[in-house]
Amino acid sequence: MTTTRSLLDIDDLTNEEIDALFALAREFAQRPTPHSLDGRFCANLFFEQSTRTHVSFQCAQLRLGGNVVNLTPAQLSLATKGERLDDTAVTLRALGIEVLVVRHPLAGAVAELAAAFEGCTVNAGDGTNAHPTQALLDAFTLRDLLGDLRGRRVAFVGDIRHSRVAHSSMRLLRRYGATVLGVGPEGFLTGADVPPEVEIVRDFDGVLRDIDALVMLRVQRERFEKMPMDDGAYIAGYQLNDDRLARLGARTPILHPGPYNRGVEIVDAVTLDTRWRYREQVRNGVLVRASLLHHLVRGW
Ligand code: CP
Repeated sequence: MTTTRSLLDIDDLTNEEIDALFALAREFAQRPTPHSLDGRFCANLFFEQSTRTHVSFQCAQLRLGGNVVNLTPAQLSLATKGERLDDTAVTLRALGIEVLVVRHPLAGAVAELAAAFEGCTVNAGDGTNAHPTQALLDAFTLRDLLGDLRGRRVAFVGDIRHSRVAHSSMRLLRRYGATVLGVGPEGFLTGADVPPEVEIVRDFDGVLRDIDALVMLRVQRERFEKMPMDDGAYIAGYQLNDDRLARLGARTPILHPGPYNRGVEIVDAVTLDTRWRYREQVRNGVLVRASLLHHLVRGW
């Protein structure tokens, strides 16, 4: 490998690096990807369930010609034999793993592992902290749909407090000059949950006609004990339902990082609406992750 760069959060990349990453991802949509990972071993270590991120990284690694090892934490020695996370990382590196993609339920655990690994570590989501590759694919998708994001108004709606996606994506979109709105009840959103420039909005209905893109978020029940408000009140205030769909701008794209919960933050009709861009997000995720891995191992 020419580099041991890692990606723990979105601030690890400069705007110029992200622009180059997006340009290459766009090329990957048109032509076969180079075998930048030919002969290299990549391991995917997910301590938390994942459909999109895990499969997306695996597809990206295979497209780049990598050898892919998918690790199940329950089968590793750290599960029952007292081996520490950092010692596991040292062992994986000694076994010849060069690229390690990690998801962990605890904020900061991926950084701890990366410090011991001494290879290329990519954060696939750590607790409520960060999910930088989701931020990249969301920004890539929004730039495709809206062009220049300067001055564009992007609203994140729902459980912002527990959303690592929102925490990484809001920062990245601000860097691209977007105006970012956080829309949610006090139990899921206060000033402490978002960067200072983010506008906090309680009235979802009040912004429907005044935004350029909508990012709906799941209520992340696995990350807190007690729902801060009654489910019915949450749905009444923050679900994207038929009535709100009708009042949303005719061309306002609707994004969702997934997994989405029908009947909670969205109704079925959202998934059939032409403004629903979830499939593009998922497709773009493979391109963006392939481009990221190419750059991390080959340099910029
Ligand atoms: N968006 C996302 O992180 O989905 P998964 O949990 O399925 O990976």
